Amino acid sequence: MTRIYTLVNQKGGVGKTTTAINLGAYLAQLGQRVLVVDLDPQANATSCLGVDKSTVQGSTYEALLSGDVPASSILFNERLQISLLPSSPSLAGAEIELVEESGREFRLRSALESLDGKYDYILIDCPPSLGILTVNGLIAARDGVLVPVQCEYLALEGLGQLTQTIERVQAALFPGLRVRGVILTMFDPRTNLSTDVVKEVKNHFPGQVFESVVPRSIRLAEAPSYGLPISAYSPSSVGARAYEALAREILKGDGVKVH
Ligand SMILES: Nc1ncnc2c1ncn2[C@@H]1O[C@H](COP(=O)(O)OP(=O)(O)OP(=O)(O)O)[C@@H](O)[C@H]1O
Ligand SMILES: [Mg+2]
Repeated sequence: MTRIYTLVNQKGGVGKTTTAINLGAYLAQLGQRVLVVDLDPQANATSCLGVDKSTVQGSTYEALLSGDVPASSILFNERLQISLLPSSPSLAGAEIELVEESGREFRLRSALESLDGKYDYILIDCPPSLGILTVNGLIAARDGVLVPVQCEYLALEGLGQLTQTIERVQAALFPGLRVRGVILTMFDPRTNLSTDVVKEVKNHFPGQVFESVVPRSIRLAEAPSYGLPISAYSPSSVGARAYEALAREILKGDGVKVH
């Protein structure tokens, strides 16, 4: 069975895309068949993997409208051994176009069902909003959501709104929706603030915060401009080690054996 996780947090710039790409790259490096789904009209995950969104033929947009994913729209990166369902500029219109459609919240889930068994992991990268795209991401998150939280002042602000949205989706549309875990990102060991935020988030989500914490690392911020995940750009950097540890932690939690 394919495991499907969705990276969600309506707050912008907390590390959703960075996590989707780098966690995906390490899961792939550890022998998993990985598909990253770019559900964000900004198409950051697409460009982080070196794909020019303006050249994309089939994208998440078509998948949402048709409820299907043609094999031709999935781009396989030989070097990284990772697959991508890219975003395209047209995805920006989907938010409005889907309003009239029946079963609009379930489009992505249905589309991904056609890929069942072809991948070990599907990671869905959401936009920074709680609109219909993110709701599609939540309902497709068969195995749970991964919530990146930036270690900064007011880190918890907005998480109440996210929790409420998750509860609403659970109540009305997908009772099986759960939080797989919270990922602390951009941790700066030199500041008391970062350390305080870690404590605060752990208190707020007891037992749900991953042990692997992603530090603030200039290498992680540089890698996208080369269209590469950190595993290919700077594998010995602290950010790389953190994402590899996170991948191993998730595999372990999922009962997947790796060497
Ligand atoms: N651990 C880190 N250390 C340093 N820079 C980081 C780290 N994680 C992410 N960044 C940088 O911070 C910015 C925001 O990260 P990212 O794009 O992953 O967030 P996001 O939640 O996907 O944003 P959006 O809400 O716009 O989709 C990017 O420029 C990224 O390169
Ligand atoms: Mg993003």
